[in-house]
Amino acid sequence: MKPVVVLSGAGLSAESGLGTFRDVDGLWTQYDLSEVATPEGFARDPALVLEFYNARRANMAAAAPNAAHRALAQLSAEPDVTLVTQNVDDLLERAGATGVIHMHGELSRALCHACGARWDAPDVMAADDACAACGAQATRPDVVWFGEIPYRMERIEALLSEAALFVSIGTSGTVYPAAGFVHLAREAGARTLELNLEASGSTFDESRIGPATELVPAWVAEMRSE
Ligand code: APR
Repeated sequence: MKPVVVLSGAGLSAESGLGTFRDVDGLWTQYDLSEVATPEGFARDPALVLEFYNARRANMAAAAPNAAHRALAQLSAEPDVTLVTQNVDDLLERAGATGVIHMHGELSRALCHACGARWDAPDVMAADDACAACGAQATRPDVVWFGEIPYRMERIEALLSEAALFVSIGTSGTVYPAAGFVHLAREAGARTLELNLEASGSTFDESRIGPATELVPAWVAEMRSE
């Protein structure tokens, strides 16, 4: 199979019951992102931020992968397919996907901002949790906040530079650098396809509009029959 890069956003997990950010009842309509998704917000009130992520971690544990996660998991077994996700949930992994690049980090991981150690996050994180490696009470969710650098960007850009096909699933295309991936892919000569509940406004060679649980399995079946 030609090199394929698949980018996903919150719309991929919407039908599993996890909220999106900018839809009608999205997370950023319920919380002030500057308070719960920035380093400054964490410095101001770590307990509030940890409580926000504890709630999202509980929602994630109660959710189940949907047909779109399962279809992408099947596709991820192909040698030249890479799944890049903005999502911090583990539903792709729980569907059996391998090699997923979580560019915004993972709810299931914790980070010590004193020494950089990472470990599997407990269900409930507290501000006075001590780092297992250095003992500092400096633990945080291993997620990328606004103003921080997303993870694995060099790897992602290298993949986009060699892609023959770039597919964007369930993302509004409003947050950079992910919103710029379609342009990098096009510059590399890739065909670009969007699978989304509504057109995101970025220009793709093809846009298919509908729910991920319908569009993604159908597209994966097409890819596997090629
Ligand atoms: N199927 C397909 N697409 C869907 C579905 C669905 N069932 N439900 C919603 N969508 C689409 C919406 O139309 C929208 O375009 O998913 C997109 C969700 O957009 P956002 O809420 O902006 O989420 P996302 O694009 O993932 O946000 C990007 O912003 O706040 C940061 O770090 C956060 O990773 C997140 C980033």
